Amino acid sequence: MNHKNVLLWTFLQCVSFAFGENSVLKGEENGFESDYKAISGTIKYNMRKDLDLDQEGCYLQTGKKDQLEKCGFNATAKTIFIIHGWTMSGIFEAWMRNLVSAVMQRESDANVVVVDWIPLAQQLYPDAVNHTLAVGLDIASMLDWLQEQLQLPLENVHLIGYSLGAHVAGYAGTYVKGTLGRITGLDPAGPMFEDVDDQKRLSPDDADFVDVLHTYTREALGVSIGIKKPIGHIDIYPNGGDVQPGCALGDVLAAAGNFMEVMKCEHERAVHLFVDSLMNKDHVSYAYQCTDAERFKKGTCLSCRKNRCNNIGYNARKMRKKRSKMYLKTRADTPFGGYHYQMKMHIFNRKQFDNAEPTFYVKLYGEHNDTGNIFVAHDEPIGLNSTNTFLVFTEEDIGDLLKISLRWEGDSESLSSVFKYIRQSFWNWNTKATKPVLQIRRIRVKAGETQKKFTFCAQDPSKTEISPGEHITFVKCRDGWEVKPNKRIPM
Ligand SMILES: *[C@@H]1O[C@H](CO)[C@@H](O)[C@H](O)[C@H]1NC(C)=O
Ligand SMILES: *[C@@H]1O[C@H](CO)[C@@H](O)[C@H](O)[C@H]1NC(C)=O
Ligand SMILES: *[C@@H]1O[C@H](CO)[C@@H](O)[C@H](O)[C@H]1NC(C)=O
Ligand SMILES: *[C@@H]1O[C@H](CO)[C@@H](O)[C@H](O)[C@H]1NC(C)=O
Repeated sequence: MNHKNVLLWTFLQCVSFAFGENSVLKGEENGFESDYKAISGTIKYNMRKDLDLDQEGCYLQTGKKDQLEKCGFNATAKTIFIIHGWTMSGIFEAWMRNLVSAVMQRESDANVVVVDWIPLAQQLYPDAVNHTLAVGLDIASMLDWLQEQLQLPLENVHLIGYSLGAHVAGYAGTYVKGTLGRITGLDPAGPMFEDVDDQKRLSPDDADFVDVLHTYTREALGVSIGIKKPIGHIDIYPNGGDVQPGCALGDVLAAAGNFMEVMKCEHERAVHLFVDSLMNKDHVSYAYQCTDAERFKKGTCLSCRKNRCNNIGYNARKMRKKRSKMYLKTRADTPFGGYHYQMKMHIFNRKQFDNAEPTFYVKLYGEHNDTGNIFVAHDEPIGLNSTNTFLVFTEEDIGDLLKISLRWEGDSESLSSVFKYIRQSFWNWNTKATKPVLQIRRIRVKAGETQKKFTFCAQDPSKTEISPGEHITFVKCRDGWEVKPNKRIPM
């Protein structure tokens, strides 16, 4: 990831903040007031009737009752408003098309309405922020009018806001008469929202259920494009909420982009994950509650007990109580969902190799398919004579896990271990330098997606030792294939 370019972009943003008050840069657009009345009429409610998005939709307008019939508004169906964010181009970006068509395909009866506030969003960022309240108020009065005219039940109303649009939805939820059913925030904007109080941003009291996806929370110069703090009933941070797979500079450069493309890729990933959840109904991705991304990466948070896991995106189950942050790993492209495994193993260091620093790979053999070699990532050195927990993620569904091959990366591949042997043989010049030997007898596995737990034992009970360049094969232990949740496994 090229941080320089992100810094540059952020710098440009800061310049834009600094000059936000200065009308010199505002050009002719400085006539816009935050005053709600001055802007009413500039916001359009385009009700989509056709999957073909080149077809002009039908426009709803408060006070124009005949439009409701003309647009075929169905007051007993779900009503879904889609709200865009800040725009530089002044046109709908491609994601809007994807999201609208995914919503319409999933909810064929629903009233799908695109809230078009482009003239107010195509401003310097701080000015667009200043308009979010007015746009939110306008949406609230549209919903109030629909309630009056059609007794529209607010619990059937779902606002989906991307970036700045998420905070617009928050204001709409605050000011509408009654309580909205649901607001989804897709990577809600961070700059100028991170530290403001609840009333000035999307928050859990804006709807009965507020769910948020955070995909671009990497901070540069004190600013993060997507808001970092949790602001809903559930806040999901795919891939830790910062670096999204497939968005690194190298990956998107090939697709003709520049650093703006990287930014767009990570920020917009929230929309694509949501679209994915609408389209791939039978491949649901789960997110797991965890205190932070570091703990999640260690594989310690794959529990679904007491609502600790939830579906991501459209399929998220309603939570009344605010949860802490939730995490998952994803693939780089649609379908984004993959499979999480927690692997626990006690690594014995019986022969006292002080500086054995193993790097492990696993290959998983399943009922349907096998994986390639997967690097077993760990931020801290692997603990010897202690139990380690790892998170292993696979992109393919291999079915129930049958066999695990654990390999210690060979020393020829690791320069540091070569140096270690040189050092070792230097000090122990009269003894032959020996390869480190560690022992692993069992691997306890928990599959996040199925919540199944198994213990795997060395296939050959006499082959439980491992040195660089070697592997051990583990199969399900004969005693107790499936492990009861609370049974302690003697290691
Ligand atoms: C935003 O609006 C407030 C008043 O509502 C005003 O004081 C402030 O200068 C505006 N900020 C920008 C950047 O226009
Ligand atoms: C309106 O929506 C309801 C609920 O989805 C559905 O049962 C009904 O058929 C719809 N009416 C029309 C006219 O489409
Ligand atoms: C690990 O435990 C074994 C006994 O099982 C002991 O002999 C060895 O010294 C320990 N190694 C370290 C590095 O503590
Ligand atoms: C098994 O996985 C490979 C990729 O690792 C994939 O190409 C292949 O189609 C899969 N086979 C089945 C039967 O799913």
